[in-house]
Amino acid sequence: MSFKETIACIGAGYVGGPTMSVIAYKCPQYKVIVVDINEERIRRWNSDLLPVYEPGLDEIVKEVRGKNLFFSTDIEAAIKEANIIFVSVNTPTKEYGEGKGMAPDLRYLESSARQILKYANGDKIVVEKSTVPVRAAEEIKRVLSVSEKYHFEVLSNPEFLAEGSAINDLLFPDRVLIGSEETPQGIKAREKLVEIYANWVPREKIITSNIWSSELSKLASNAFLAQRISSINALSALCEKVGADIEEVSKNIGLDNRIGNKFLKASVGFGGSCFKKDILNLVYICKTYGLNEVADYWLKVVEINEYQKNRFVTNMIREMLSTLADKKIAVFGFAFKANTNDTRESAAITVVKKLLEEKAIVTIVDPKALENAKKDLEGVKGIVNYTEDPYEAVKDADAIAVLTEWDVFKQIDYEKIYSLMRKPSFVFDGRNILDHKLLYSIGFNVYPIGKPPLTHFKKI
Ligand code: UDX
Ligand code: ADP
Repeated sequence: MSFKETIACIGAGYVGGPTMSVIAYKCPQYKVIVVDINEERIRRWNSDLLPVYEPGLDEIVKEVRGKNLFFSTDIEAAIKEANIIFVSVNTPTKEYGEGKGMAPDLRYLESSARQILKYANGDKIVVEKSTVPVRAAEEIKRVLSVSEKYHFEVLSNPEFLAEGSAINDLLFPDRVLIGSEETPQGIKAREKLVEIYANWVPREKIITSNIWSSELSKLASNAFLAQRISSINALSALCEKVGADIEEVSKNIGLDNRIGNKFLKASVGFGGSCFKKDILNLVYICKTYGLNEVADYWLKVVEINEYQKNRFVTNMIREMLSTLADKKIAVFGFAFKANTNDTRESAAITVVKKLLEEKAIVTIVDPKALENAKKDLEGVKGIVNYTEDPYEAVKDADAIAVLTEWDVFKQIDYEKIYSLMRKPSFVFDGRNILDHKLLYSIGFNVYPIGKPPLTHFKKI
């Protein structure tokens, strides 16, 4: 079959993989090649067990893989064949040198640009999909402008998908942003990308702008979302002190149309590869421009999140007779949110490490994220067990800590769970997903987030 054009994507991760699968699925007239330096990742993209768990992803990949969607490690061939090249590599927080712990590490982005420069055999459109600092497109352009033979047009097309709902977000996005230079060539390149998305996204949802607005909009969207969670989590601490209920407060706030009801769920803390990294990225940019007050404002969002995770463990220690040493704790959920196997920056990492420091014996239950959990806890001192069976995890346990809002944890027989545990038994519900009154009536001492605890202990 002959294709209209070939699109390549450098980086087959949580963003590149699902995004390109949906593009291939919705645009059969394009050939899509996703490449990665990580051979194991590519092997898994070509297998029945994909490296990314996302509801609906398996079906889409099965439908188009081998037809117009290909996963490969041959980066050179993909760059040569494609006219449009998405760059979807990781941009983690820098762990060394200038800006350590705050600035984004752009070495993977730069090496992608250098690969494009090295292998290009004609003019190319380079689409920045990875979340980047403002003006990163300029950096890519600097590398590519070395070429004397070919012209490279750089576009910004940030991805707003959330993990766990990636396929739905890709199929029905709130908006697609495409930033370009306002030159005739920039606008022409932008139109090519618009044409791809227009295969399934209503035209009015495809927003075009200048590159810097597009880049900053991505950072700002994540900062706003994270700020809402930190705001509600900050209030949850106050609720616990004054006897208010954070769910009632959230509901009442969210009924105001101007505020809206989404992203107001108090939790043990937000995780995921984006929020912390992107806010730190924003903070770093502000500092670079001497905007210290603005930087401090956004940094507080991350600090409150750290506070919330620490507060959760401190609360466990205080309520469980001030010591966790040798106590068994069943941790329900390790993924940073439900419906994903991703554990990057998961609150569970911080919580479990702290529990182990307190010499607790931890058993982690998760339907999809155990493989990643094991990697995250590699080399950490202490006793950790892993299982997919919650009933096995709670045998002789003193406490359950709910850290991910997986549906399976709501469907368990808590009478049976209670019968298997040591008494007194505790539940710390870091996601407020369980029926607290029911648990209390069974005999548990229940500690939700942002609500008064329900305990059987008598005040002396
Ligand atoms: C986020 C953005 O939503 C997405 O647009 C962007 O492209 C990438 O970053 P993601 O990190 O995949 O997506 O998941 P998200 O649903 O935003 O959740 C992030 C974290 O916040 C999770 O740990 C989640 O459990 C937590 N959260 C979310 C809350 O604690 N309370 C809420 O009300 C919502
Ligand atoms: P995200 O969540 O943003 O998708 P991931 O870390 O899941 O981030 O994926 C990024 C992918 O990019 C990884 O699989 C990594 O191996 C790949 N990658 C990084 N640098 C390069 C490069 N220069 N060439 C090809 N692939 C790369």
